[in-house]
Amino acid sequence: MLRGSKLSVFRRYVSKNTVINTDYKLGSADLPHDAVVFSMVQPTGKFHLGNYLGATRVWKELCEMKQPEQKLVFGVADLHAVTVPKPDAKEFRQLRHEAIASILSVGVDPERASLMYQSALPEHATLHWMLSTLAPMGYLNRMTQWKSKSNLKEDREASDKEIGAVKLGLFSYPVLQAADILIYRATHVPVGDDQSQHLELTRTLAENFNKLYKTDYFPLPNTLLAPTKKILSLISPETKKMSKSDPNQDGVIYVNDTPDEITRKIRKARTDSITDRFNYDPQARPGVSNLINIVSGILQVPIQQVEEQVSKFSNYGEFKNYVTEVVVEELRQPRENFQRYMEDPSYLESVVTKGTAEAQEMTQKTINDVMKIMGFR
Ligand code: AMP
Ligand code: TRP
Repeated sequence: MLRGSKLSVFRRYVSKNTVINTDYKLGSADLPHDAVVFSMVQPTGKFHLGNYLGATRVWKELCEMKQPEQKLVFGVADLHAVTVPKPDAKEFRQLRHEAIASILSVGVDPERASLMYQSALPEHATLHWMLSTLAPMGYLNRMTQWKSKSNLKEDREASDKEIGAVKLGLFSYPVLQAADILIYRATHVPVGDDQSQHLELTRTLAENFNKLYKTDYFPLPNTLLAPTKKILSLISPETKKMSKSDPNQDGVIYVNDTPDEITRKIRKARTDSITDRFNYDPQARPGVSNLINIVSGILQVPIQQVEEQVSKFSNYGEFKNYVTEVVVEELRQPRENFQRYMEDPSYLESVVTKGTAEAQEMTQKTINDVMKIMGFR
């Protein structure tokens, strides 16, 4: 059933392009005064520089720019996290706490944004079911995540046995993600590049629902991408994005790594021996370009400006010292904040209680409306 998707059949499902690439300053995205912004991270471990530059720092900036009528909801996707089994309940509980502490530690303001755990709002799962009735298996089959998380390779046919072992929850992961977004009737979703595919599906499901019930109830959410939408592994910048699950952890800088760890990892970062002058050329020089991109993202200045700055260095030592300084300085505060928040569980609890109540007003209204539109009420 999951086999043999023919692209042409699915062309009609490809929604119109609503991807907003933001500039170095997020203000350029110019969100409408009544935007509803929604995003989540999985509680699968510590945050790394990719999560930070691709997503959570953008959330912080959205808090800073928030206009009175805008709504911001950020969450911990704990239901998604169990699509890769988490048999140790104690550890899982800890990961959930850490995720909230991490979101706060990068500066997301709980007075301006509602923070919550996905599992505390059952309306997400209810809408997931409704949307699953509209989600074509062929479309889900083309999504890449269930394949990568099942260790199936894109470039070869998987065996029946391998496909037969894939769990339904992992396969329908993107439908739950669509429900997460649509339950808030979100208009803007700030994420990294790897989530673009899931956002496309979300727009398709919103369109399918609207068409079927002859309504315009669900807005088609925009994908909000930062210029640092794809931070690469320091060790394999030509092939891999920075990822928690990377077996080579030297390629991953965590937001709460110590300055010594950051220094060591950047020193080991793969570069090249093309020249000991430094310029941005992602094709020919993926390692150097990734480091330049990281600096540009942190300082929020154009790549060219970083290129000018680093062009004066004449060896890798100087270049890497500079990158290290920028990264260490940027992560100092989040690292300290994280320790502080983890020592204050009752504060974390209070933030989530408030955020959940605010979110619930929105989710209950949507599910009531959807039930009415569909004829359940
Ligand atoms: P996850 O850790 O998979 O829950 O991802 C949380 C957020 O970080 C999502 O918006 C991802 O798109 C984003 N993200 C994850 N890895 C990277 C990366 N290497 N570069 C940029 N953004 C990323
Ligand atoms: N799939 C996202 C990730 O791995 C997490 C996520 C779940 C999400 N639901 C979402 C992101 C809704 C944005 C909107 O990072």
